[in-house]
Amino acid sequence: MKLLDADPRFRDTFTTNFNALTAENAMKWRNLEPTRGGYNWAPSDQLVEFGQAHGQAVYGHTLVWHTAVPSWIDESWDTETIRDLLRNHVSTVVGRYRGKVWAWDVVNEVLDEQGGLRDTIWLRKLGPGYIADAFRWAHEADPNARLFINEYGTEGRTRKADGLFRLVRELRAVGVPVHGVGFQSHLRWDRTPDDTTGNLRRFADLGVSVAITEMDVRITLQVTTEKLQRQERLYRHMLRACLTVPTCESFTVWGFSDATSWINTTYPDHGAACVFDADLEPKPAYDALVETLRERRGRVDVPSPGSG
Ligand code: XIL
Repeated sequence: MKLLDADPRFRDTFTTNFNALTAENAMKWRNLEPTRGGYNWAPSDQLVEFGQAHGQAVYGHTLVWHTAVPSWIDESWDTETIRDLLRNHVSTVVGRYRGKVWAWDVVNEVLDEQGGLRDTIWLRKLGPGYIADAFRWAHEADPNARLFINEYGTEGRTRKADGLFRLVRELRAVGVPVHGVGFQSHLRWDRTPDDTTGNLRRFADLGVSVAITEMDVRITLQVTTEKLQRQERLYRHMLRACLTVPTCESFTVWGFSDATSWINTTYPDHGAACVFDADLEPKPAYDALVETLRERRGRVDVPSPGSG
């Protein structure tokens, strides 16, 4: 909301080009509940209202994560207390936005790089069952919301992607309400994920939707024409893969302006990761996305998010 409030051009670019929005930080637990029971709903409420007012489907991000855990949670508390807190968090947040948020990242980044479960406060305190529990709690709070597991480094055929595949298969086999798998797609300009289409397809074959949820393509500075072309190819690569898999539900970029992307502050010596430059002028990657969507129009029926 800060970015949308600060700059009318940013806001116009946003409403003109995008039919869905994801909360970048406003719905993270630490921001929603900075003190125990002391909720700060305003920014996330405003974002949801903004989406509704502009015909944008709202993607909720994220209920269970190992970072952005409120600082008041103390790992030395007993298991039952921690479990109650997590359940209450999931139920409260999903319940508040019932019917308004079309999809939730229920769990985010639960795997380690080898494809096993990541060592987090949730795994340590609650055991591996916390993942299934979180999905069940979310489903109870809004039976119509699409429930996603979201991960990075799983776009291509990696060990981590294999681990994610096994996890989703197991969850589905025992009836856990996992409806979709989100592929964050924070890519680097010089690496193409291996067989993205085949990888997305094997997940889709499990009966879940897939989605590109947080795409950006960071470039090592200085930016050159060649790097921008490689970036363009990667955006096209990911959108094509998504459009090739019938149950790819959405394609989301993580920020759209090179002026305000998280990459600038998180990855030293990297930048220019978005589809609009720092002056909000479209980059080659933007044109590639538009062109790719145009190619597909008429050939496939591209549903808008939230249309069912
Ligand atoms: C990032 C935000 O963009 C930053 O503003 C914040 O400081 C840290 O989190 N994967 C995710 C996102 O799932 O929540 C992260 O967002 C980027 C990586």
